[in-house]
Amino acid sequence: MNWDIFLAPYAQAVDELKVKLRGMRRQFEYESDQSPIEFVTGRVKPKTSIIEKARRKGINPESIEKELQDIAGIRVVCQFVDDIYAVVDMMRNRHDFDIVEEKDYVSWKKDSGYRSYHVIINYPVETIHGEKILLAEIQIRTLAMNFWATNEHSLNYKYAGKIPTEIKARLKRAGEAAFQLDEEMSKIKSEIQEAQKAFLRKEEQKKDSKK
Ligand code: GTP
Ligand code: MG
Repeated sequence: MNWDIFLAPYAQAVDELKVKLRGMRRQFEYESDQSPIEFVTGRVKPKTSIIEKARRKGINPESIEKELQDIAGIRVVCQFVDDIYAVVDMMRNRHDFDIVEEKDYVSWKKDSGYRSYHVIINYPVETIHGEKILLAEIQIRTLAMNFWATNEHSLNYKYAGKIPTEIKARLKRAGEAAFQLDEEMSKIKSEIQEAQKAFLRKEEQKKDSKK
């Protein structure tokens, strides 16, 4: 199998989706000063991780593109929990891809303490051989959820998936604290947004006075 050839459409999909979702953020900024999207990242799963995951899950090499949903991965990070649902709604209304599955780990966190909303899509890319429809995973989460997941991921990597019990317990508490942070921020959301709007207006005035 030639991995560069196999992964090229996935790289294309990740690049396109980043542009599209970042475009949504820009439109929100122009139209309302406020965006439910804080930032967007994306990556193609490295070859070694694909092979390792396929082996772990007992997936044949021929079924990788049907069975592995996250070869193309996009992450949308939001300020507030209700922004996540606003973003999911916008995903449902788009016509450039079809949602094949939704996993709500925001309302139902995983045993590890992980929280995020996952939207699995069928995304069409134009290749030199015609259209190819491939799976991509969009993870939508708050800044607090992202902070937790990034740190937990590093620890999982460090301990090869066998995090010591004591650190696991700390992670659970950290997850609870991240959840409380999201709850508290939601309660003062309108205050925060007013402050951010006022700040943006000042920045605009500064720019105008320099023109
Ligand atoms: P894997 O968890 O990747 O084996 O796939 P799955 O089919 O079980 O899907 P799931 O929705 O559980 O996870 C998909 C992706 O979500 C993972 O590849 C991670 O990026 C992320 N994820 C899921 N669970 C956790 C977790 O406990 N901690 C962290 N940091 N990320 C997680
Ligand atoms: Mg999993």
